[in-house]
Amino acid sequence: MKKVSIKDVAKLSGVSISTVSRVLTGSAPVSKELTEKVIKAVQELGYSPSSIARSLRNGATKTIGFILPDITNPFFAHIVRGAEDYLRKHGYTLIFGSSDQDKNEENHLLDVLLSKHIDGLLFTGSGDSNPKLLRKIEQGLKVVFLDRIIRGVNSSYVIVDNKKGINLLLDHLIENGHESFLFVNGDKNTFSAKQRHVAFMERMKSGKYKHEHYFTGFSYRAGYNFASQFDDILEFDAILCGNDLIAFGVIDALEEKGIHVPEQISVTGFDDIPFSKHYKPALTTVRQPMYEMGQKASELLLLMIKEQLSTAEGIILDPELVVRESTRRTKI
Ligand code: RIB
Repeated sequence: MKKVSIKDVAKLSGVSISTVSRVLTGSAPVSKELTEKVIKAVQELGYSPSSIARSLRNGATKTIGFILPDITNPFFAHIVRGAEDYLRKHGYTLIFGSSDQDKNEENHLLDVLLSKHIDGLLFTGSGDSNPKLLRKIEQGLKVVFLDRIIRGVNSSYVIVDNKKGINLLLDHLIENGHESFLFVNGDKNTFSAKQRHVAFMERMKSGKYKHEHYFTGFSYRAGYNFASQFDDILEFDAILCGNDLIAFGVIDALEEKGIHVPEQISVTGFDDIPFSKHYKPALTTVRQPMYEMGQKASELLLLMIKEQLSTAEGIILDPELVVRESTRRTKI
């Protein structure tokens, strides 16, 4: 049987040999459309370039993939750093991509990473399910879920106790006299936003507090747009935000409306990204141990790859309340 060559892949996908090579080595960016054509041709022809073939012979490429929502959110940048440092120490290289909370992009990244024969995957999903990924797990792909668990799979994960985080914030606000709460949460299909919503509503069940809850997106822009458009915001003593980026957007929009934080209204975040302590006002928030999350998830994944973990393991880390200047005492 004739050996499939890079020329055959180029011919079938209708691109040049150098484009095929760029897609397979990742040496230079190639458009999504061309990348997809090349990957399709590689899969159809069963092409294995020599470096991949070499890796396949010894059973490992020593590369780990990481699909996450958005690397511009410092929360994920610090998780990635924790993962990368741990993996590097153990002889592995990390390749990551941002899905932008988009299921199609997430699946595209999954295809690209699989075509590079990753040994395992760290995964922070854009929604609450992903049938394509579930199929791959059934076929043997080793995956650790990070920050977000998805439905329908019994796999290892590393998360923070989101419910506890919301309760720490509410304890702090209530102890300081706040009685009405507006929750500007993140993306509604995500595990973390849902958990925080549940914790908030459980706490509001007593009927003692006026409250409203909204899902938006986990970004500065989402927080800014929400607070710019929300009338009567001063009917609330405090605004809880789904993460620190939302809180920055909310604070900026309030300041533009001439509403001062915390003098007229308290605002809280979630994550404690490093910039939060330098914001004006410095943000009261809940700290997630981001770097440690990346490290622990990588540790679990390597144990799975080396077959040293017999059952799925879930790690739930503790959040920590960080009180700064964006919250106040409402009554003396
Ligand atoms: O998508 C971003 C958010 O999800 C983070 O800021 C963090 O709070 C996580 O749960």
